[in-house]
Amino acid sequence: MPKAARQTSSEPSERVHEGEEEQDPRLRELSRRVHRIEAMGGADRIERQHRLGKLTARERLGVLLDPGTFEEIGAHVEHRASDLGMDQVEAPADGVVTGMGRIDGRVVYVFAQDFTVLGGSLGEMHAAKIQRVQDLALKSGAPIIGLNDSGGARIQEGVDALNGYGEIFKRNTWSSGVIPQITVIMGPSAGGAVYSPALTDLIVMVRGTGQMFITGPEVIKSVTGEVVTQETLGGADAQIRRSGVAHLACGSDVEALSAVRKLLSYLPANNVEEPPVLLTDDPVDRPHPELRHLVPAQSSKPYEVKTVIAAMVDRGSFFELQEGYADNLVIGLARMGGRPVGVVANQPKVLAGTLDIDASDKLARFVRFCDAFNLPLVTLVDTPGYLPGTQQEYGGIIRHGAKVLYAYAEAVVPKVTVILRKAYGGAYLAMCSRSVGADWVFAWPSAEIAVMGPEGAANIIFRQAIRSAPDPDEMRQTKTEEYRQKFAHPYVAARHGQVDAVIDPSATRYHVVRALMALYNKRDERPPRRHGNIPL
Ligand code: HXC
Repeated sequence: MPKAARQTSSEPSERVHEGEEEQDPRLRELSRRVHRIEAMGGADRIERQHRLGKLTARERLGVLLDPGTFEEIGAHVEHRASDLGMDQVEAPADGVVTGMGRIDGRVVYVFAQDFTVLGGSLGEMHAAKIQRVQDLALKSGAPIIGLNDSGGARIQEGVDALNGYGEIFKRNTWSSGVIPQITVIMGPSAGGAVYSPALTDLIVMVRGTGQMFITGPEVIKSVTGEVVTQETLGGADAQIRRSGVAHLACGSDVEALSAVRKLLSYLPANNVEEPPVLLTDDPVDRPHPELRHLVPAQSSKPYEVKTVIAAMVDRGSFFELQEGYADNLVIGLARMGGRPVGVVANQPKVLAGTLDIDASDKLARFVRFCDAFNLPLVTLVDTPGYLPGTQQEYGGIIRHGAKVLYAYAEAVVPKVTVILRKAYGGAYLAMCSRSVGADWVFAWPSAEIAVMGPEGAANIIFRQAIRSAPDPDEMRQTKTEEYRQKFAHPYVAARHGQVDAVIDPSATRYHVVRALMALYNKRDERPPRRHGNIPL
C-alpha cells in the first residue's frame, strides 16, 4: 500500500464494539457482514490495485476526508441481476462506496468506485447508490466528489446499467451551477462513462492510471487503423494538453485527493453561499515594484503574465487550472485580501496572447464556473486580438469567440479588469471591457487600447498617402508612429470613461483589492428566462 494511504478512520454506527460482539448474535451477524463488505474484492485484487500504484476506494476516502468524518450510506446494497451468472456473483457494496464526510470541517458527499469489485463496473444498484448521494448533495447544498475507477457499464446488466448512467447524467445536469461537482479519474473511465465526469465542473486526473476515452484502442484500430495505447489516447496528458477535457494532472492518488481538498478551499458549498474567506497576513497595500519594468518598451516583446498574477494575489494563493492547454490564456483560482477570486489573463509568451478557439472555450467555461459560484473575476488584458487564419475561421472562431463575450456579459459577480498592454479590437471587448460589463477597469500606463495595432491601422487609413509617397516605407513608419502617438496609450479610453483609472503597476494589488472590497455587496439582475442560448 502506498505510504500515505490510510484506512477510512470512520466509526460507522454499524461497526460493532468487541465486547458486545461476544454477547449478541445479531451484533455478531452485523459484524460479519461489515467485515465482508469492507474486504471488498478480496486480498488478491486489492494487492493488484496497490501494485498498479492505486489505492482502494476506502483508502482513497481515508485520504480525501477529514479523519473520522466518513458516514457510509448503502453499504449493504447488492445487485439484483441474475442473468449471465450474476446470481452467483457476490459484489460487496456493489462496487462503489458512497456517503458523506467533511473536508476542512465542511460537509461533502462522495462516491468512490472500487475496481476490486467487478472492475468498479456500474450496474443498476451501483448507479442507484451514486444517484442517492447526488440527490442528498443537491438537496443539502453540499459539493459532491466522485472518485472514478471503473470498467464502465456492467456488461451483464445491460440496459439497467445504461439507465443508471442516464439517471446520473440527469442529476449532474440538474446540479450544475448549484453545487460544485468534482471528479477524480483514478483508473479507467471508458465509453459513455466519461460523460458524467464531463458534466461536472472540474476533472482531476492521476497520471499513468487515470484514463478517459469514448472508444478504446481496440475499437479505434479496427475502425480507423490507428494504433494507440490507452495512456496516449486518454491519459492525463492527452486530456489536459490536447483535448482540454480535464483541469489538473497529478502524480498519484494521494496528490490528486489533496488537490481536491485544496480546490474546495476556494469554493462555496453551493451557489447561494459566499466562498470561504481565509485570513491572510499579506498586506492589501503590499507594493510590487518589480511590475514597473515587467512590460518591455517594445510592444511586440513577450513577458510572463504569471509574474503579474503572483504579485497581485495573496502570497502563494494562485492555483492554476488547465495548465498546458491553450496556454495563450491563463486561468486559475486565487485569493485577494483573503477572498477567493477567479483570475483570467492573456499570456503574451504564447501566441502573443491572442485569443483562439481553444482559449475562448477555456475562458468562457471558467467565467461561467466563477459566476455560478460567486467568485469575482479579475481579468488581466494583453492581447493583440483573435488569432487570424483559415484554420481558426473554418474551425468556428466566430462561434467560440462569441462564448467569451456571452460569458462575461452574462456574469453578475464583481468584475475587475486591468489592461496591462495591448487591448485591440474585438479581443479588447471580449476581455471584460467596460461595455460588456466590467465594474472597474484599470489600465497601466503601458496600455494600448484601439481598434487595431498601429501597423495594421496605418496601412489601412493612410493607404493613399503611403502609396503616393516618394518613399512609401518611410511614410508608413511616419504614419504608424503618428497613429501610435495618437491612440496607442490608455488616455483616450480614460478620457472617454472606458477606463476608470490609469494606475502605477506597482500598486495593482492595492487598487484591485480595494475595488473588489467595494463590490462585495454588488447586486446585478438579469431579466427572468428559462436559460440563455450561449453559442456552443
Ligand atoms: C463487467 C467488468 C467490466 C464491465 C471490467 N470488468 N469491466 N465486468 N462489466 N464493463 C471486470 C472484468 O471482467 C474483471 O473481472 C475485472 O472487472 C477486472 O477487469 P480486467 O479486465 O481484469 O482489468 P484490466 O486488465 O485492468 O482492464 C481494465 C479495462 C477492461 C480496460 C477497463 O476491463 C475493459 O476493457 N473493460 C470493458 C470496458 C468497456 O468497454 N466498458 C463498457 C463501456 S460502454 P474478473 O472477475 O475477471 O476479475 C459504457 C456505456 C455507458 O460504459 C453508456 C453511458 C451513455
